[in-house]
Order: sequence, then C-alpha cells, then structure tokens
Amino acid sequence: MRTRPRPLTHSHTGTGTGTGARTLGVTLTAALLTVSLAACGQEAKGGSRYKPDTGKGGTIGLAMPTKASERWIADGRNMAKQFQKAGYRTDLQYGDDKVENQVAQLENMITKGHRLLVVAAIDGSALTDVLRQAHDAGIPVISYDRLILGTKNVDYYASFDNERVGEQQGRYIVDKLKLGKSDADSDDSHSIELFAGSPDDNNTKYFWNGALKVLQPYLKSGQLVVRSKQTRMNQATTLRWDGGTAQKRMDDLISKSYGDRRVDAVLSPYDGISIGVISALKSAGYGTKSQPLPVITGQDAELASVKSIIRGEQTQTVFKDTRKLAAQTVQMGDAMLTGKKVEVNNTKDYDNGTKTVPAFLLKPVSIDRKNIRLLVDEGYFTAGQLK
Ligand code: GAL
Repeated sequence: MRTRPRPLTHSHTGTGTGTGARTLGVTLTAALLTVSLAACGQEAKGGSRYKPDTGKGGTIGLAMPTKASERWIADGRNMAKQFQKAGYRTDLQYGDDKVENQVAQLENMITKGHRLLVVAAIDGSALTDVLRQAHDAGIPVISYDRLILGTKNVDYYASFDNERVGEQQGRYIVDKLKLGKSDADSDDSHSIELFAGSPDDNNTKYFWNGALKVLQPYLKSGQLVVRSKQTRMNQATTLRWDGGTAQKRMDDLISKSYGDRRVDAVLSPYDGISIGVISALKSAGYGTKSQPLPVITGQDAELASVKSIIRGEQTQTVFKDTRKLAAQTVQMGDAMLTGKKVEVNNTKDYDNGTKTVPAFLLKPVSIDRKNIRLLVDEGYFTAGQLK
C-alpha cells in the first residue's frame, strides 16, 4: 500500500523570512521592500510577477519533451484533461526531444499570454533565457517531473522521489541475485553492466546515485563485477534516453568484455533503454533455456515493458503513476492561479543551482512478475491490454 507523503502547505505569495537573526534595520528594509513589491504584484523572493487573484480561466501551456515514449503522451493527455476539468483551456506541445523546439514552443506560449507554464524540460539547463521572458511577462512556471536548473524563474517542482527509483532498481538486483545472503548461488561473483539516463536530464543523477548507493558495497566486495570497467556515470549515459543508443552500447559491451562469459545483471534506468539492452542480448544469443537473459531493471511501467516482464524477458520496472503526478500538478497550478496555498512536501532538497525549489514528490513502486497485477488493480492498464 502506498501512503501519500504528509503534505506541508506552502504559501506561494508569502514573502519568506529567511533564517538566522536579523537586525531591526534589515527586517524593516525587507518589510518595506515586500510592501512595495506586493503593490506591483510581485513576489518578494524574486519569483514570478503573476497576479494570483484573477481566478479560473485562461490557458495553461503544457510543454512536454517527446512523443517517443508512452509516458509523456499520457502525462500530457492527463494534465490537459484535468486542467480543462478545473476550468482552464490547455495548449499541449511536444518538443520532439529538440531543445530549440521546446524553447520556441515556450516563447510562443508566452507571446500568447498563457497563464501558467508546466514544463518537462528536454535539457534542464537550456531554459534560462526563455523562463526570464516568462517571468517578465508575469507567467509562473511549474517544473514537471524533471527539475529545471540554473534559474530562479521556476516556482514549483512536481515529481516522484527519483533517488528512491534508483534505490529500488539497485535493491532489486541485489535481492534477485541473492547477494550477501547465506543461501547465495554457487558463484561468488556476478557480472553487471550499468546504464544511465540522458546526461542533460537532472533526474539521471538521482537514479544513478540511488542505485549506486545500494550496489556500491557489492562492487567493492567483488560480489558484483563490471567487466567493461565502465563504472562512472558519464561512461554509462544514454543521450535522450534513446533505446537504439543503448542497444549499440550493449552490443559493444558484450563483444568487447564478455567473450565466453555471461552478463548476470543490467542496471537500466528506463524501460526504453531496457528494450534496447534486451535486443542486444538476444542478438548475442541470450533468452534461451541454456542462456537465460540477465536480471534487467527499468522504469515507467510502459506497456511494451510490462508485457516483456510477463513474458519473462525484462525483470523489473518502476511504476510512477502519471495520472497522480498530473493530478498533483493541476492542483498546484490551480492553487497558484487562484491565490490558494500550494501543497508541497519538500522545501529543502531541490536546489537547482540558483534557488531551492519547493517540491511535491510522489512515491514510486517497484514492479516485477509477482506484483504486476497492481497495474490492473490501480486501473493503469486493463487486464486485456496485458494479454
Ligand atoms: C525521466 C523520467 C523517467 C523517464 C525518462 C525518459 O526524466 O523521470 O520516468 O520517463 O525521463 O523519458
């Protein structure tokens, strides 16, 4: 059973008092500044200049990264539906994984005077200029799933606990290979290869750090061995999460480092990467009774991977219910636009290099063959889809 993190409320229009003692003079100056900024509809903390008291209506700009993955299609569709239900129009755009497309789409949304931008960034560091334009036009921004970096012009972050996703993937491998247990398989050491996500996505490092935190003791003890020796994140990244790129890298790793040895596990941070890895392994003869596929993790519970798990190919995925993330984001956006308190449950960990962005994080769930039924019970897929 998942329990929702206990919400804190966060006053979006609050002035922020900072920490530590202040002299009366500084406090007075700050108070005066607050009053004068409030008078022109600005936030004292240097956030967006939007006016939260204008109620419902207007258009919400939804900037999603790509249609190449099912999850972003569902994210966009769910948010559009739910924002419309809450009384707004929506403008849903996909950037085809090209930074310049996403920037142009956001510029266009700003020109059209949309009231709020919800952005799942293609490159988390590439939006500073366009978000300054949003700020100048008084349009607030929610960073969706991926944290936008290096700008103060992002108001809130809605995502899952991404480090936990990595921990779940690492833990799954450790448990499945029965590492560190007295009834361990006869082999003392198991070979593993490591894949990371796109280097320009801020989530990549959370997934990697979470997984490596769990795997590290076993890499150190030699129970896990990376035969390719590619153990640094920058050797393992997969630009734009592309399955074909992962497939090529896996082909390469097998031919250069494995010869007559077996790969026992593959850390994959995302289902699209897992599919590429599985193709490479199958071309190298894995996937038979005498040469079974290794333990392969994933993320997103995409239909193709869920079916692959049922077939016994991919071993695990991490389910992040995009409907819940959409609902949370709509609630946060609506609260911002109607001047209500915005619900957050983390106000200290998401430093984007320029500010600590108040966040709401949902809980991910690890899925394998044993609990795959949960996806049907939760209505994420129908039983028919999984046949
Ligand atoms: C990440 C996201 C993952 C996965 C990946 C590739 O930012 O958190 O769930 O979807 O992008 O699209």
